[in-house]
Amino acid sequence: MTSYKELGLVNTKEMFAKAVKGGYAIPAYNFNNMEQLQSIIQACVETKSPVILQVSKGARDYANLNLLRNMAKGASEYAKELGYEIPIVLHLDHGDSFETCKECIDNGFSSVMIDGSHFPYDENVALTKKVVEYAHAHDVTVEGELGVLAGIEDDVVAEHSTYTQPDEVIDFVSKTGVDSLAISIGTSHGANKFKPEQCTRNADGILIPPPLRFDILEEIETKLPGFPIVLHGSSSVPQKYVKMIIEFGGKLKDSVGIPEEQLRLASKSAVCKINIDSDGRLAMTAMIRKTLAENPGEFDPRKYLGPARAELKKMYMDKNINVLGSAGKA
Ligand code: G3H
Ligand code: 13P
Ligand code: ZN
Repeated sequence: MTSYKELGLVNTKEMFAKAVKGGYAIPAYNFNNMEQLQSIIQACVETKSPVILQVSKGARDYANLNLLRNMAKGASEYAKELGYEIPIVLHLDHGDSFETCKECIDNGFSSVMIDGSHFPYDENVALTKKVVEYAHAHDVTVEGELGVLAGIEDDVVAEHSTYTQPDEVIDFVSKTGVDSLAISIGTSHGANKFKPEQCTRNADGILIPPPLRFDILEEIETKLPGFPIVLHGSSSVPQKYVKMIIEFGGKLKDSVGIPEEQLRLASKSAVCKINIDSDGRLAMTAMIRKTLAENPGEFDPRKYLGPARAELKKMYMDKNINVLGSAGKA
């Protein structure tokens, strides 16, 4: 049993309380490898932003839980070494069972998500409550979910989105005791969040997606004043990376994200955690493709992962400063 406190990490409690009050959102960035983690920590230290390091089931399978835990410990030491102590959370993204959540809690995670959103309501309540009881006994915070996002949630494929029903939120939060609630208001996972027929095109031919359901968010806020809300599927799919990937030999079609303006607006509301994974994948892939295309003889991974890491850092800094408003809040 390793407590997150031994690793220099914090849970989300104080972080979320400050974010809701201050009208900004904490970045929740997924990581699977050292370069992603370095860039997240460098960007968040430099912008003095609190951060949530997210580990999905896929990341656990890819990188190993022991390694990830020690990487998070290293990240907290690295941040201090860079000269500014920021609050760091190690969070399980889309936990699929009580056992997965327990294993993470026992291995140094300070926050877990139990994603029971695809189960019938009563099963979601029972499962989430069970996780909360175990987590709270270890001072670990829990994110639950109501409503289903379109797209792929790890192993769970949701064909169509089901918006969160505001009528359910009070009952769910009071029965389960969750610390935050992920909701579905029109975001979805991945780099293809909308079908072209759902979008309009601007003068440059860029696909403009339908707006998020801020009316549902407002209703939820009215029912749960000051309660921390989480937005998944919040990559904005920067077109410059989509273009770079295509220019340097990649194949991407109809890649559409959530416009930054919408995320800026959400960050000012009760939304206090914004999940971003796909944008990191796009930035990294774009820069690796460019570097290798321009330097075909290069075979030292540091020579193409280094520029990718630098590009990632730039992108995360921009998000903290210009989109989420978390810069300067650590
Ligand atoms: O919400 C899903 C995340 O983007 C994780 O994806 O399972 O491929 O790591 P992954
Ligand atoms: P994106 O695919 O939009 O980056 O969403 C990531 C996410 O919600 C992780 O839980
Ligand atoms: Zn998600």
